[in-house]
Amino acid sequence: MSRRACSTIHDSAARGDTFDLSGEDLDSLAKRVAECRRCPLWEERTRTVFSNGSKRARLMFVGEAPGREEDLQGLPFVGRAGKLLTKILDSVGLARDEVYITNILKCRPPNNRDPNEEEVRACEPYLARQIELLKPVLICALGRVAAQNLLKTNASLSVLRGGIHYYNDTRVIVTYHPAALLRNPHLKRSAWEDIKLVRKIYDEEIAGEE
Ligand code: URA
Ligand code: SF4
Repeated sequence: MSRRACSTIHDSAARGDTFDLSGEDLDSLAKRVAECRRCPLWEERTRTVFSNGSKRARLMFVGEAPGREEDLQGLPFVGRAGKLLTKILDSVGLARDEVYITNILKCRPPNNRDPNEEEVRACEPYLARQIELLKPVLICALGRVAAQNLLKTNASLSVLRGGIHYYNDTRVIVTYHPAALLRNPHLKRSAWEDIKLVRKIYDEEIAGEE
């Protein structure tokens, strides 16, 4: 890509303009992400982290951003928090390859700091297109950053947990980030309630479609 084209894209991201991803499928979208320089995080990434799980899944989990392991492997939730997520899914009979897992940001912020507004805004169209293509019956937001950015709210996690929210017409449930459960094991009981609710709504939605 020419320098000029590149700076045009960067400027449009900075202005919050949308750029057109409507022709992309999940594979071509992942390639766009792999080449993305819409925010400064591209400079320090090892790999972009697009998704894992099944492209046919109808249940989607959205985390915050890649951490160290994810940046190295190019896959979401493969570090310690990811191993706990696998166990949480397993506890309600869901295999990782039955669901679709991604993050708000596709590149790792330095030292795992919180994503900033510019980064979220620049990266948002990719997640929007992922959701449009996957058409999940339910999205589970993992942690405050995922929840607040998906739902465009400043409400705290404790306010958002336990309720049903919407991203356009898609239902969203909010739970703790698995890293928070590693730091505060006493939260696991509530997280268990949340994942059971995810499983229940997912089953109802899928049964309703059959
Ligand atoms: N934390 C996240 O939010 N996402 C990952 O992919 C890994 C850790
Ligand atoms: Fe592009 Fe998102 Fe990575 Fe920023 S975080 S460079 S917007 S893929």
